[in-house]
Amino acid sequence: MARPSRFWDWMAKRYSKQPIADEAAYQKKLQVTRDYLRPDMEVLEFGCGTGSTAIAHAPHVKHIQAIDFSSKMIEIAREKAAAGNVTNVTFEQAAIDDFRVPGQTLDAVLGLSVLHLVEDRDAVIAKVHEMLKPGAVFVSSTACLGDMMMFFRVIAPVGRFLGLLPLVRIFRVKELENSLTAAGFAIDHQWQPAKGKAVFIVAKKVA
Ligand SMILES: C[S@@+](CC[C@H](N)C(=O)[O-])C[C@H]1O[C@@H](n2cnc3c(N)ncnc32)[C@H](O)[C@@H]1O
Repeated sequence: MARPSRFWDWMAKRYSKQPIADEAAYQKKLQVTRDYLRPDMEVLEFGCGTGSTAIAHAPHVKHIQAIDFSSKMIEIAREKAAAGNVTNVTFEQAAIDDFRVPGQTLDAVLGLSVLHLVEDRDAVIAKVHEMLKPGAVFVSSTACLGDMMMFFRVIAPVGRFLGLLPLVRIFRVKELENSLTAAGFAIDHQWQPAKGKAVFIVAKKVA
């Protein structure tokens, strides 16, 4: 396992009970994503949390493999899927950093509220690129704290140092765009509900 997930294990129950911060933005992201999905698609979601998004997309694709490095998140996700009789999502405890699937086999990869939490963003983006078929999409929603107030830029490293917060990487929207294009993606759709909010990007693997 690439990173300890104690913080996220501790958060899991609370996270599953929290209302979505911006329901309208969440619904819009689901809808935009859905426009890219097809019933025969094989999808990976990493950092799936308690599984709500994978479960919401499940009726629109063939299969979703949903991974998260927190065992508690995965436990709750499995319970939700069982309660909803969702049978085409496989939840697995795994870190994206160590995760392997055969190259060029996936039709879509989702990484929602997670790219700013991984150790090496460029390595993860390169891995996603390798997993996807040519022309397939990487859907991400990412907090770009480098564009936010100084407050967050100070709090994130201090909180991490004190062991109160998980790893949070600080970068700007422009840096994220550069990472995606340098890896061989073309940005197909980009939306930021408001300044300081997560940036939602659908990036296509250049065929
Ligand atoms: C902010 S939550 C987002 C959960 C979900 N994607 C959502 O949008 O509600 C971040 C999730 O990513 C997971 N995570 C963080 N780093 C990860 C990594 N390197 N590999 C797999 N999961 C990771 C955490 O355990 C947590 O469940």
